Amino acid sequence: MKLTLKIWRQNGPNDKGRIVDYPVNDVSEDMSFLEMLDVLNDDLVRKGEEPIAFDHDCREGICGMCSLFINGEPHGPGRGITTCQLHMRKFKDGDTIYVEPWRSAAFPVIKDLVVHRGAFDRIQAAGGFVSVNTSGNLVDGNAVPIPKDDADKAFDAATCIGCGACVAACPNGSAMLFVAAKVSQLSLLPQGKPERKRRALAMVEQMDKEGFGNCSNTGACEVECPKQISIANIARLNREYLVATVTKE
Ligand code: SF4
Ligand code: FES
Repeated sequence: MKLTLKIWRQNGPNDKGRIVDYPVNDVSEDMSFLEMLDVLNDDLVRKGEEPIAFDHDCREGICGMCSLFINGEPHGPGRGITTCQLHMRKFKDGDTIYVEPWRSAAFPVIKDLVVHRGAFDRIQAAGGFVSVNTSGNLVDGNAVPIPKDDADKAFDAATCIGCGACVAACPNGSAMLFVAAKVSQLSLLPQGKPERKRRALAMVEQMDKEGFGNCSNTGACEVECPKQISIANIARLNREYLVATVTKE
C-alpha cells in the first residue's frame, strides 16, 4: 500500500505545532499501525531527520500508553482495540491518514504525538488506598460471597487501562468515564466499600482541579473506549458522589 500520512509534529509544549506530510510506500496490511510508524521512523533516522515521538509500551492492549488520534478517532477505526492493536488492513491503498495526539487541555503535548497524562495519575492517587488488610491474616478471596452480577460489573470496570481515549473522544474533554471506572471497580466490591464515599469525593474533586470538562452524555467515550467501558458506570459515579455528598459527616 501507498499512503499519505499527515502527522502532527510539535517540538515541545511551547511550540505551536503543525501537520507534516509523509508519503509512505510498501506498507503491508499485516503491519500494526505502530510498526508502520517504526518503519517511517527508521527512514527518517536514516535521512538524518528527527523521528516522530509517540507513546507505546506493551503493544498488546494492556498498558494504555499508545494514544493516537487517527483520522479523528482515538485509537483509529475499529472498536474495542487500542492503537497498538490496529492493523494496516483497516486502510486501503492511496488513503490519507491524519495522526494527531490526544487533544485535551488536561493532557498537554510533550512532543509530537506524546501527551502528559499525569492528571490521571493524580486522580488515581487522590482515590487513595483501600484499608483492607493484605498482609498476614488474609481472608481467602473466594470466602467472601459477592453477587455474580456485582463481580462481573466490577471486573468490567477494572479493565480500564487509563489510556485517555475517553477524554480525547469527548467534546467537553471529560474524564468521567475513566473516573467512573476507577470508582466502580472498588465500590461494587466489599473490599472497596469502607472508603467509597471519601474516594468518590476526592477523585471527582481532583478531576475538576485538573481542568477536565463536564459530562453531557454524548456517549462518545463509550464508543471509543478500547475496553468498551459502559457509561452506566458514569451513572454509578454520579450516585456514589451524590450519596457521599448528602451523607458527609
Ligand atoms: S475508560 Fe476506556 S478510554 Fe477511558 S481511560 Fe479507561 S480504557 Fe481508556
Ligand atoms: S502499547 Fe500498551 S496498550 Fe498499546
